[in-house]
Amino acid sequence: MDFDKKNSVVGHYGGSEELETRLEELLRNATFSRGSFSPNDIAGLDQFHVGGISATAELAELLAISSKSRVLDVGSGLGGPSRYLAYRFGCHVSGVDLSDSYCRAAKMIARLMNLEDEVSYYTADARALPFENETFDIVWTQHASMNIEDKSGLYREVARVLKRGGYLALYDIVQSKGGPLHFPVPWAREPGLSHLRTPEEMLQVLTQSGFESHIWEDVSSVALNWLKTRSLDPVPPEKAALSQRTVMGDDFPIMISNFRQNLEEDRCGVLQAVLQRCDQTGGCR
Ligand SMILES: C[S@@+](CC[C@H](N)C(=O)[O-])C[C@H]1O[C@@H](n2cnc3c(N)ncnc32)[C@H](O)[C@@H]1O
Repeated sequence: MDFDKKNSVVGHYGGSEELETRLEELLRNATFSRGSFSPNDIAGLDQFHVGGISATAELAELLAISSKSRVLDVGSGLGGPSRYLAYRFGCHVSGVDLSDSYCRAAKMIARLMNLEDEVSYYTADARALPFENETFDIVWTQHASMNIEDKSGLYREVARVLKRGGYLALYDIVQSKGGPLHFPVPWAREPGLSHLRTPEEMLQVLTQSGFESHIWEDVSSVALNWLKTRSLDPVPPEKAALSQRTVMGDDFPIMISNFRQNLEEDRCGVLQAVLQRCDQTGGCR
C-alpha cells in the first residue's frame, strides 16, 4: 500500500475494487455446506469493533427497536451491525460509509442473507448525510467517530436527520489519561487518522449539538476482557478466512495487540452511550 492510500480513511480500511468479489467467494466457500448463514456465523468478519456481535447486541438492548423503527448506521463498514439489527428486529436500516467498496460488499452480503429489502447502503461522508431532515427514529454508530476530526459537524448532521425525541446510540473509542497511543491501532496506522476525544469533550460536543445523555457508560474493562479472551483463542482454519485480517491486511494482529496495550495502560477507553435529540427549545420529549 502506498503512503497516500495508507493515510486516507478509505485506504486505511483496505477498500479495493476486488473486495466484493473476493468476499463473495470466501462467503460462498465458507457457508456452502449450510446454504445460508446468520449474523453470528460471519461476525468475525463484519462486526468491526471491540466486543464483536455481543457489543452490538448489548447496545441494541438499550434501545426500544421495533419492526417499525427507521434506523441509520453511520460508518456502517461491511454492514454487520445493520444486518444484525434488521435480522433481529425486522426494522429497516440505512448504512452510510465513506468506503464505496465496503458499501458494495455490505450490499452483496445482504443479498446472500436475503436481507436486501431490510438494509440499504450509501457511500457518503457522515458530515453530509444524503437524507432529509428528521428521517430516522434511531441513529446508530460504532467505532467510526475516531476517524472524524470535526465532531461538531458530525453530531450536528446526526441531529439534523434524527426525528425530534429520536435516539443516538454510540459505541466509540475515547482518549484517556495514560498518554499518547501506541500505533498502529485498528482505526489508524499513524496519529494523523486518529481523532480521539476524552469522554468529557465528547459529552460537551454532543450537548452543544442538541443531545441529552440518557445512558453514559465506560465499558473499557469489558472491552479489554474481550480482547484478552480473543487473543487466547486460536482461530479455527475454517473461520480464519472470514476475519477482519482478510480485509485489513497482515498488520491487523499488531493493531489488535497495540489496542489491547493502550487499554491496559489507560491510554484509551471505550464509551457506550444513548442520547436523545432535543428540540430547539431545549425539550427532549
Ligand atoms: C472500524 S470500522 C466500523 C464499522 C462498523 N461500524 C462496525 O462496527 O462494524 C469504521 C468505519 O467508519 C467509516 N468511516 C470513517 N470515517 C467516516 C466518515 N467521515 N463518513 C462515513 N464513514 C466513515 C470507515 O470507512 C469504516 O468503514
